[in-house]
Amino acid sequence: MTAAETMKIGKGVFITIEGVDGCGKSTQAARLCEWLENTWGDRGVLRTFEPGGWGGGMLLRRLLLDRTLLDGTALTSRTELLLFLADRSGHLDAEILPALERGQWVVCERYTDSTLAYQAWGRGIDAEEIDGLLSWCRFPIPNMTILLDVDEETARSRLSLRGKLDRMESEPDAGFMARVALGYRELARRYPERIVVVDADADVERVAAQVRERVEERLRGERT
Ligand SMILES: Nc1ncnc2c1ncn2[C@@H]1O[C@H](COP(=O)(O)OP(=O)(O)OP(=O)(O)O)[C@@H](O)[C@H]1O
Ligand SMILES: [Mg+2]
Repeated sequence: MTAAETMKIGKGVFITIEGVDGCGKSTQAARLCEWLENTWGDRGVLRTFEPGGWGGGMLLRRLLLDRTLLDGTALTSRTELLLFLADRSGHLDAEILPALERGQWVVCERYTDSTLAYQAWGRGIDAEEIDGLLSWCRFPIPNMTILLDVDEETARSRLSLRGKLDRMESEPDAGFMARVALGYRELARRYPERIVVVDADADVERVAAQVRERVEERLRGERT
């Protein structure tokens, strides 16, 4: 049995990429998938994301990113949480679980750790209650989660370069992103066997090399 085959749900391997807005998830997901294609390509790679990475998901994604309903009212935190869970349920059924059953690699930007970091630490919903909902939903646990840990200022300047700062600036709660970052670090402390923390302040190449190293390490570790 190869190292890659020991680390699987169904027959595939499920890797999630997490971190605050602008930490580099999309950039690193692309790099990781390119490397997986070249190294273990025969398994097939699904690159996907939350919210909205499935056929029915784009409507939910727009709603969740704007946080505003058609009549101009804001989503409440509870409604937001439930929509994220509904989105994940559809995404798993339509995309992730079939790919894992086919034995593919699945690389997903954001997953359950985002729910805890943003909705518990960020919005202040009780973390145990969210854990209860996540268990009820029976969302599978990823084989491995890469947390891109970045300085708040670095994330902010990257987003402003990309012209996407408005989402952070439109957040009326000034401490929101700092609490989310804290939440992620706490989750990494709680689940060290699943979550690996990568210093994402470095340049794209160095971060990508660290991510590859950590995935390889994990594969070797799972084998012994
Ligand atoms: N290591 C890096 N060094 C410098 N710039 C970077 C680095 N990683 C990503 N960037 C740039 O920073 C911006 C944000 O990166 P990216 O879109 O990958 O972040 P993200 O975590 O996916 O953001 P979001 O949460 O908004 O989806 C992009 O313009 C990207 O090119
Ligand atoms: Mg992104």
